[in-house]
Amino acid sequence: MGRNTLLQSIPSKMKAVVVTEYGGVEKLEERKVPVPIPKENEVLVKIYACAINNSDILMREGGYGTDTKSSEKAGWKREAISFPRIPGTDIAGEIVAVGENIDSSCLGERVVLFPFASSGPDGSEHMAEDITLMSSECDGGYAEYIAWPKELCRTMPLSSYVESSSFIVSCFTAWHMIEKSKVAPGEKILITGATGGVGSYAIQIASKVFGANVVALARDLSLKEKMIELGASEVLSYKSKTLSEDILEAAGGEIDVVLDVVGDPLFSTCLKVLRNGGRLAIAGAVAGAVTQLDIRTVYLKHLSILGCTLGTRKEFDQMLAAIREGKIQPLIDKTFPLGKAREAQEYFKDSGKFGKVILKNEG
Ligand SMILES: NC(=O)c1ccc[n+]([C@@H]2O[C@H](COP(=O)([O-])OP(=O)(O)OC[C@H]3O[C@@H](n4cnc5c(N)ncnc54)[C@H](OP(=O)(O)O)[C@@H]3O)[C@@H](O)[C@H]2O)c1
Repeated sequence: MGRNTLLQSIPSKMKAVVVTEYGGVEKLEERKVPVPIPKENEVLVKIYACAINNSDILMREGGYGTDTKSSEKAGWKREAISFPRIPGTDIAGEIVAVGENIDSSCLGERVVLFPFASSGPDGSEHMAEDITLMSSECDGGYAEYIAWPKELCRTMPLSSYVESSSFIVSCFTAWHMIEKSKVAPGEKILITGATGGVGSYAIQIASKVFGANVVALARDLSLKEKMIELGASEVLSYKSKTLSEDILEAAGGEIDVVLDVVGDPLFSTCLKVLRNGGRLAIAGAVAGAVTQLDIRTVYLKHLSILGCTLGTRKEFDQMLAAIREGKIQPLIDKTFPLGKAREAQEYFKDSGKFGKVILKNEG
């Protein structure tokens, strides 16, 4: 491995869980693969925790393709995934070796990894054509080690690897949605998928960082008190037959901004409750990606629809600062050992979790 290492005994092989081809959880396979060697400007990170996201599962299922043969364009660059591929975008770990050009003083630093590389300039890096996202265009965090550009490593915001990994894609996406929709103090915000990774962090950011009033939608109202602790003013069940009326009553009027990750089942409700000139930020479609839209609603109400994916390095750093200041708390539903990645992904897909599911690497 060379002389710039912290551990003299970095092995040549590591445990990794790889996706072997498009398909179900049976396509996740534990293998021994070579430990990556950090290239110029890179460091080798020993991974201690990796949070799970829908994107890990959608990659395996070929779920990002939108054309007739979806799997052919299932990567973020609209290309096929090259298998075997190690999933996982949300990594917390320790720098244990450095490549050329990197000062060895960073050895031992405990870091979280900004999850993609791109040539895009500051402010539009998430929109660049050449985006390389872990778990899609390159290997990710269901493994013991990863080599990653040092300039995309950040000091862990909390002392726990598991807690630090929990924020990365979910909280970052939530932050970007709120920033992009220019949420202002006192505005009325509706958050769908509020028990999930993105939604539960969105509640905290919208209320505790941006000073908005949040109405949160959940299936299970037994979580209401916990969601109020996160910062929601009101929590409603999305199963209600009178959901639009419930939302307007709970918010005390029409909604300024909807943050949506659910998609089809709540789409018409989201449009209906928005005020004239309201904003709808969309980052996901967990319950249905295709919907019906009465276009007149958009122009007659002067609505803005904002598509949101990931975010900028500046937003990532702002998010980490807010975590360090204690404004955003980690929300962990359950941890699994790395070797139980299949069970962890199945658990993640079940309805009813609250917060993040994390793969832990004890080794
Ligand atoms: N664009 C991006 O950069 C980006 C980043 C992260 C995530 N995403 C996307 O955002 C979506 C949510 O991600 P996540 O990580 O927050 O997922 P998650 O943790 O699995 O949470 C999903 C949430 O959606 C709710 N939900 C599921 N089915 C529903 C339905 N039929 N009606 C209403 N609510 C429903 C769930 O509530 P119950 O469990 O109570 O049913 C849960 O609160 C996914 O589509 C994901 O791919 C996009």
